[in-house]
Amino acid sequence: KGPPVGDSEEAEILACRKVLEFAIDASFSELVNEGDNVNVMKSISSTGVNQSRLGHIIEDILSLAHGLRWVNVSAVTESGSLVNMSLPIVLAIDDDTKTRIGSSPNVGLVGPTGDLVGILRRTWGTTTPGLPYVEEVITPAGNWLVGGDLEVLNPIKYNDGLDHYRLSPQQLRKEFDRRQADAVFAFQLSNPVHNGHALLMNDTRKRLLEMGYKNPILLLHPLGGFTKADDVPLDVRMEQHSKVLEDGILDPETTIVAIFPSPMHYAGPTEVQWHAKARINAGANFYIVGRDPAGMGHPTEKRDLYDPDHGKKVLSMAPGLEKLNILPFRVAAYDTVEKKMAFFEPSRAKDFLFISGTKMRTYARTGENPPDGFMCPAGWNVLVKYYESLQAE
Ligand code: ADX
Repeated sequence: KGPPVGDSEEAEILACRKVLEFAIDASFSELVNEGDNVNVMKSISSTGVNQSRLGHIIEDILSLAHGLRWVNVSAVTESGSLVNMSLPIVLAIDDDTKTRIGSSPNVGLVGPTGDLVGILRRTWGTTTPGLPYVEEVITPAGNWLVGGDLEVLNPIKYNDGLDHYRLSPQQLRKEFDRRQADAVFAFQLSNPVHNGHALLMNDTRKRLLEMGYKNPILLLHPLGGFTKADDVPLDVRMEQHSKVLEDGILDPETTIVAIFPSPMHYAGPTEVQWHAKARINAGANFYIVGRDPAGMGHPTEKRDLYDPDHGKKVLSMAPGLEKLNILPFRVAAYDTVEKKMAFFEPSRAKDFLFISGTKMRTYARTGENPPDGFMCPAGWNVLVKYYESLQAE
């Protein structure tokens, strides 16, 4: 809770500073005590601080939060609702400091008097080409950014035969009302639906029914904007999704399929907050999150860019998402004994097969079938046809 806000502009800015100093101190101690390389997430409650002060708040964070990677700021809008923003916090360092840090994962943060005030445990950082967020956003951004209110004059049409799937939040809410949904659970995805994804969705439905909901509706909400070149294009994914419904892997009676017209930046735990938040606007009250949401493998090294559990962790901590019930799920993999997709059990790890996107593409390209129970055959055929068409080019 922030200190009382004074009546002058100066007092208000001072109040913001105090809130920030407090929050950042708290973040430092959390970072050191936890000894965990989590992205530090702290709610900075700026109750009473006008949104126009946000510029000052950001400046202050940047000058105070040396070494912290993300701070979550809640600003209060004029109508009194909270706006949650995830800000990347970076400290500019010179060549000499960079050389001294080298590839060390832990960096000591030293205060003005030479005391160790914290430890920065490096989580992620790359400007390697190949990561869309680097190529599309960071490198070409230049020195300046601009933002402001948008007035959108007409619904945006793509004329690609898929516009009927592009429902606005208002249209989605109407549809949920028409179906008399008493719970709406959203599933964000940017890949074809395999039976592991279906397991998450069907398990959620079961849990909601057990909780007493009578008519939970699934919003299957594939991302429709930019995806990287080796991802399956939207039109193919939409066809694949319709086969999954036709095959009854997901129940068509209780599912609404719509396109979420957002580009994918593969920004992991940061982006997943946008994914979840946008679904609140569309009327969802439950949000499924599994392994490594909005993540990707490192463009040149053989590893994930993000900790695969951070997406879930961040969603459970982020302010502004209180209206949404986050449903975190363990990783699902192919159980070679049961011959179906199941939640991974570390005690019998050797029975499980992880079928990555790359592995799936290799199966499809070489004409080999994935193991039975990985994906419904009609859905798989859509992918095979797509990869065949690529080879023919
Ligand atoms: S997206 O978030 O980048 O669009 P993707 O299309 O791979 O993700 O997956 C959709 C959702 O399913 C995400 O919540 C992701 O965490 C989850 N998910 C994907 N694969 C698995 C898996 N094998 N086990 C558990 N969750 C998974």
